[in-house]
Amino acid sequence: MDKQIEKTSQRKKEHLELSLKSDVSFKTKSNGFEFYDFVHDAATEVDLSKISFETKFFKKKVNFPFIISCMTGGTSEAENINAQLAVAAEELKIPIGVGSQRQALENQKYKNSYSVIRKNASTVPLLGNLGAAELVKFKSFDSIKVLIDLIEADVFVIHLNPLQELLQKEGTPDFKGLLNSLKRLTREIKIPVIVKEIGSGISAKVAKRMLDSGVKGIDVAGAGGTSWAAIEMLRNKSNVNDYFWDWGLPTSFCLREIKKLKKKYDFLLIGSGGINSGIEAAKAFALGSDFVASARTVLKQLDLSGVDGVKNLITDWFETIKKIMFLTGSNSLNKLRKKKLIRREILY
Ligand SMILES: Cc1cc2nc3c(=O)[nH]c(=O)nc-3n(C[C@H](O)[C@H](O)[C@H](O)COP(=O)(O)O)c2cc1C
Repeated sequence: MDKQIEKTSQRKKEHLELSLKSDVSFKTKSNGFEFYDFVHDAATEVDLSKISFETKFFKKKVNFPFIISCMTGGTSEAENINAQLAVAAEELKIPIGVGSQRQALENQKYKNSYSVIRKNASTVPLLGNLGAAELVKFKSFDSIKVLIDLIEADVFVIHLNPLQELLQKEGTPDFKGLLNSLKRLTREIKIPVIVKEIGSGISAKVAKRMLDSGVKGIDVAGAGGTSWAAIEMLRNKSNVNDYFWDWGLPTSFCLREIKKLKKKYDFLLIGSGGINSGIEAAKAFALGSDFVASARTVLKQLDLSGVDGVKNLITDWFETIKKIMFLTGSNSLNKLRKKKLIRREILY
């Protein structure tokens, strides 16, 4: 048992190390935002000083529609990282996710690496997290309720990661029964359920199936940012295959398609997957995101310049978004969401 705990913990450690030290970005595919441009409003009457980003994440008020994506837990390094990310989230008043809580189900050793988030972020929305491959194994959801209590989660995220399960040497590429499990989960737990990918994107068809199962949020986590195929292939050392390295639907494409479901369904659309600047975040909003989220760039910033670095990064992005709102004549994010972006090749 101890050996198994340490193996899982070692895997989490390798994920962190590769994310921080290796180039695990997509190589030939981008998130697609560079193909879009804003429509300049030369007669803008927006008062920059009046722009506010305050909004609600489900029931809780937050200062920015920005989520620190689910990342880590289950290894000793994770405790310090999660503690610091939580301080940044609490001070910025934004939601934050934990990494897969699977390890907390299997043993007590690294429980603090998860609970430390609630300890340091007592008021902001927290997102619990577990993979689809685990979910489908449960007959009862009592253990998910334990995970929710462990961090007093406000929402629970199920991550869909078929490519990672396929390439990871310890992976279980078996999601049989997923829709049924999701339907039961959304009925049985009291908090909203979100589904997210981890870098290969979610199509409108899949999003519709998820929403029909009772899910209240879709985080597209599209292609163009962190490649989880890259991380697992580098862990495997042999077997690096460029085709799978770049597998997936670009973030901008996912948003454009899933946004259309807003006509019929009431849900939170989260734009993520390679959101690495205020410009990309602004384009994600203009393509219909209610919230945006970012993972590896935030982690790298923490590594480079600590809690203040993370806070500055996120506030700088929203300063850029403000400038874009001024230049597009959008006095609220809702107005920006209604502005049509122009495909570059049509514009020029
Ligand atoms: C070190 C690290 C660990 C991650 N672990 C998880 C996880 O446990 N559960 C999850 O849903 N996503 C996990 N992710 C995926 C991110 O939440 C995100 O969806 C993905 O990295 C794409 O976003 P990015 O391009 O901003 O990095 C992890 C990401 C990183 C960088």
